[in-house]
Amino acid sequence: MEVRMDGRVALITGGSLGLGYAMAEKFVESGADVALIARRQDALDTAVSTLQSGVKTRIIGISCDVSKASEIEDMFQKVLSKLGRVDILINNAGHAKAGEFESISDEEWQYDFDLKLMAAVRLSRLVFPGMKERNWGRIINMLNTMAKTPSARSAPTSVTRAAGMALTKVLAGEGAPYNILVNGFNIGRIKSDQIQRAYDATNKELSFEDFVARAGKNIPIGRFGEAEECANLACLLCSDAGGYVTGTSINVDGGLSPAL
Ligand SMILES: NC(=O)c1ccc[n+]([C@@H]2O[C@H](COP(=O)([O-])OP(=O)(O)OC[C@H]3O[C@@H](n4cnc5c(N)ncnc54)[C@H](OP(=O)(O)O)[C@@H]3O)[C@@H](O)[C@H]2O)c1
Repeated sequence: MEVRMDGRVALITGGSLGLGYAMAEKFVESGADVALIARRQDALDTAVSTLQSGVKTRIIGISCDVSKASEIEDMFQKVLSKLGRVDILINNAGHAKAGEFESISDEEWQYDFDLKLMAAVRLSRLVFPGMKERNWGRIINMLNTMAKTPSARSAPTSVTRAAGMALTKVLAGEGAPYNILVNGFNIGRIKSDQIQRAYDATNKELSFEDFVARAGKNIPIGRFGEAEECANLACLLCSDAGGYVTGTSINVDGGLSPAL
């Protein structure tokens, strides 16, 4: 089986680092043009120049805070003016936010919703008309395992991610007649810049590798995931080869979640 994405245009939020960057790398290898979106322009510039070396596909980096409605429309118009259209949308920008319920303020709830849910709502609304017109589209919503198995001290993220699963199903239902396929990835623990930052916040008694190896022992498969493993799945689902999978939230978690 050959997984190719030649001629497709992908927009990846949170594309400068971590899982978003790994997906960009795979998409570019597979022939897609890619727009990377994040807030920090320096990280975007580094990502674009690394990805661009030796390939002819078009890669751009646009600074945008996707938690702000006012910035999303402007960013989308810039992507259209440079790359012409968006065939693939990866709603990936996010942050880890979970704590004791009573400690979470309205502002923190609102920010979590704006960043992880409303950004996906707003961007999906913008890409849908073009995808419908061309009768082809792919959307992946990056979620987490707690969307299916919320627990104490998992808000606001578990609540926002559960809403992301519902959004995935709604969009999949409305998109299917137009060959727009929409899926969610319920991520467990995958090595990324986010995990590096969590390590940096420790007293560093262990090396990063030992820190990750120790935490990985609690995962059935016995280790953290690699960003590339998540990117491989995204690449398959966003290519023609993945043309019959829609409306599902897939655990990408080495067996961590007890939920199906
Ligand atoms: N890695 C895991 O184990 C794990 C587990 C569960 C869920 N997830 C989810 O998977 C996604 C990717 O995670 P990751 O580990 O790759 O994260 P990461 O390494 O921290 O990368 C996050 C990316 O999102 C961008 N970003 C953050 N806030 C943004 C905003 N307001 N507007 C635009 N871009 C923003 C960051 O760039 P700037 O800071 O420059 O904006 C960066 O490019 C996230 O949604 C995360 O919640 C990851």
